[in-house]
Amino acid sequence: MASTLAEFEVQWEIQKTDLKGNLIAETPRRRRRGDATEHEVINLVRYDGVRLYPGVTIVCKVEGADELSAYMIHEVRLNTSNYVELWCLNYLSWYEINAAERYKQLDGEFYETNKEKGDKFFEETFASQSIKNELYLTAELSEIYLRDLQFVANIKNEKEYLDSVNEGKMDSNMFLCRSACLPSGTNLADLDIHFFEEKIRSSNPKVSLEYLRDITLPKLPKPLNKSKVHAREKVVATKLQSDNTPSKKSFQQTVSKTNAEVQRIASTIVNEKEAISDNESDLSEYHESKEEFANASSSDSDEEFEDYQSAEELAIVEPAKKKVRSIKPDIPISPVKSQTPLQPSAVHSSPRKFFKNNIVRAKKAYTPFSKRYKNPKDIPDLNDIFQRHNNDLDIAALEERFRTVSAKGKMETIFSKVKKQLNSRNSKEEIVKAADFDNYLPARENEFASIYLSLYSAIEAGTSTSIYIAGTPGVGKTLTVREVVKDLMTSADQKELPRFQYIEINGLKIVKASDSYEVFWQKISGEKLTSGAAMESLEFYFNKVPATKKRPIVVLLDELDALVSKSQDVMYNFFNWATYSNAKLIVVAVANTLDLPERHLGNKISSRIGFTRIMFTGYTHEELRTIINLRLKYLNESSFYVDPETGSSYMISPDSSTIETDEEEKRKDFSNYKRLKLRINPDAIEIASRKIASVSGDVRRALKVVKRAVEYAENDYLKRLRYERLVNSKKDTSGNGTGNEELQSVEIKHITKALNESSTSPEQQFISGLSFSGKLFLYALINLIKKKQTDVQLGDIVEEMRLLIDVNGNNKYILELKRILFQNDSVDTKEQLRAVSWDYILLQLLDAGVVVRQYLKNERLSTIKLNISMEDAEQCLHEDEMLKTF
Ligand SMILES: Nc1ncnc2c1ncn2[C@@H]1O[C@H](COP(=O)(O)OP(=O)(O)O)[C@@H](O)[C@H]1O
Ligand SMILES: [Mg+2]
Repeated sequence: MASTLAEFEVQWEIQKTDLKGNLIAETPRRRRRGDATEHEVINLVRYDGVRLYPGVTIVCKVEGADELSAYMIHEVRLNTSNYVELWCLNYLSWYEINAAERYKQLDGEFYETNKEKGDKFFEETFASQSIKNELYLTAELSEIYLRDLQFVANIKNEKEYLDSVNEGKMDSNMFLCRSACLPSGTNLADLDIHFFEEKIRSSNPKVSLEYLRDITLPKLPKPLNKSKVHAREKVVATKLQSDNTPSKKSFQQTVSKTNAEVQRIASTIVNEKEAISDNESDLSEYHESKEEFANASSSDSDEEFEDYQSAEELAIVEPAKKKVRSIKPDIPISPVKSQTPLQPSAVHSSPRKFFKNNIVRAKKAYTPFSKRYKNPKDIPDLNDIFQRHNNDLDIAALEERFRTVSAKGKMETIFSKVKKQLNSRNSKEEIVKAADFDNYLPARENEFASIYLSLYSAIEAGTSTSIYIAGTPGVGKTLTVREVVKDLMTSADQKELPRFQYIEINGLKIVKASDSYEVFWQKISGEKLTSGAAMESLEFYFNKVPATKKRPIVVLLDELDALVSKSQDVMYNFFNWATYSNAKLIVVAVANTLDLPERHLGNKISSRIGFTRIMFTGYTHEELRTIINLRLKYLNESSFYVDPETGSSYMISPDSSTIETDEEEKRKDFSNYKRLKLRINPDAIEIASRKIASVSGDVRRALKVVKRAVEYAENDYLKRLRYERLVNSKKDTSGNGTGNEELQSVEIKHITKALNESSTSPEQQFISGLSFSGKLFLYALINLIKKKQTDVQLGDIVEEMRLLIDVNGNNKYILELKRILFQNDSVDTKEQLRAVSWDYILLQLLDAGVVVRQYLKNERLSTIKLNISMEDAEQCLHEDEMLKTF
């Protein structure tokens, strides 16, 4: 079931480790401010064991574009208000590499001979040769939001990558990285990715960034004499090559495997025949070159790299020898080639011939689809050609493990259940009966059934249809559609239904409305075209391609409001394509309002299009309660190990008593940890449900509130734990790990706090999170304003605070504060104002825009003004336990 736990962003736990990855204990969990020191690495750990720290490569959604991008985490920062900032180095993909520059840099000869053909030529050549899941690291930094994280990538260096390809152990999280380059896609340089990952982790962020900048800096052509680095690389290269000198047979095998691989990853459309002929020519080159290589390596040279050198010289006739990446095959990129020692000679023997084939192939791929076929009869069967595994639900498939039901390998789908019972047309009731909604989609049975019915009959019959869904945010629209699709996909996987493709386009993620054509076409065909060409291709595809030659497409146009506000043509076109008799297109449009089509398309057109409309109403409090309970199923009543020092916790899975984390953590010693059970008071959930049902019926908000409440409860618990440790200062609290379980319960007070917070402004939240001294400062300021003082000067505030402390200073904590702020009781305020703590108090208020200051040389006389509403500020201050008593 959808991301039951993932919905709770809280699951990100902050841990600090030393450079070797060992946890560093730290006391106040919520007070961890500031960045890690030199010897610490900040780790973000998710409940399921995903661990982020510098050097890890992650794949994220890109805001505004409907695609994924890879980043290497460079620095994890904790800023003052305890928000996590994730700073990452950008990777480029193959299509962002400046192809002409690349060939110029790495294969001067090839570049010179083809120069006059222009950049386009190199782009096309590179498009057909590059490994599509190769990444190129740059020294450009971006900030990444955790919510955009999709998965952690498995980065391989060249050797590991080749090994995986050869062993057929490819998975979609796997990427190759062996080069760095400038953000412009130029100046490729060799990069030992694992070395760099280590460097990032173990050195100051500046150092690793400098290193990366340094190696990608434009370099002068290398002189002929071999530098140390160069030599080292060659030795490695020779090793790599001699290690796997393949027999002829295995080579043939690898060739065919690679071709399959290339076909899989290449987003070009390759004709079968061509691929075969390519294959053959590769093989003949292999035969030719084999002898040459034999000659080359028979020269009796002692030094390993001399050996390599001779092979290389034979291979690439390159006068200037300015190449840095000599190991890389210059036609690099089909993986096998770089692995076989024969590759360089192969290039030598007939470089032109090799390239010609590829040009043809590349050119074909870049003719817009709409212009490629003169006659519909010429259109090949696209079922096989547009073979995209990346249905948009694949990411969600990760979450599938939350959903159980697996009997003897085959899932019971709604389809199979309904079909078992009758042969006639199925009605909504039967679908509702067949599905077990309580376990994954409570309160949306009817909506589910309507959508399910429309989709499945269209897919089964190969027809087109459009469905229009309306409802306010957080009422489960997106979720319901996805659940329907998931079930239908399972049916398709089990051959109960024809295979179909599922595509999501989200209006909020699209910058220009016309980009949605680009995205849509790319998802269908794998081709990246301009939006104009993409639209033509789409029109051609839905209108002209015979229904038998393509599979059904289900497209979810989510957040349609956002799309429409940018342009109305897009909505019109999508609905219009779905009216073509051959289209096999099912449009599911989701919006906030029911009459969007009328308002934007006019009655006439929208009635011609005529779609099913489904209205999602807000949830009632009972429904909200059910949903929250379902969502919390894994959290409520679950047990954790909590580190009393840091507050880090590890969930203990309910069935076995093992820890749900990676291997490393399984070996962790939990004997010093406390065992803790989390319980959420049903009354607390009831209150949250009622309150939110009365406002909006928005589950998203309800879940957020509960999540915050859990955090508050956790805070309370940790406070108590620390207090207990203080009281029995003897260390006998440890060793309790195996002892009895403690209870951490989420109570009504936590929920109320969270509910209040969710209705307060960011400024108010900021104030509530201030240190006591910060609050006292504001309190003093407000006091003075109330006393009708017009220009409140900094000095006045200091005096007022002192007064307040004197009057109320009967508490140990306040006395301590006084000692820090007013050392020695001296009146030398000039010195005091310079003191760090004062600066800190003032600066954080200034930074957050809560107060403004008129700057004067004499700080004491500078005027301070409250920059937010006094009522707001007062309200928050009154909530403070200590200030309450003032
Ligand atoms: N009936 C439901 N059962 C379980 N979870 C739900 C239900 N409805 C909504 N949710 C959860 O609430 C959140 C918001 O739902 P979503 O479908 O994204 O809303 P919408 O698309 O209407 O804005 C999601 O986390 C979703 O999983
Ligand atoms: Mg939605």
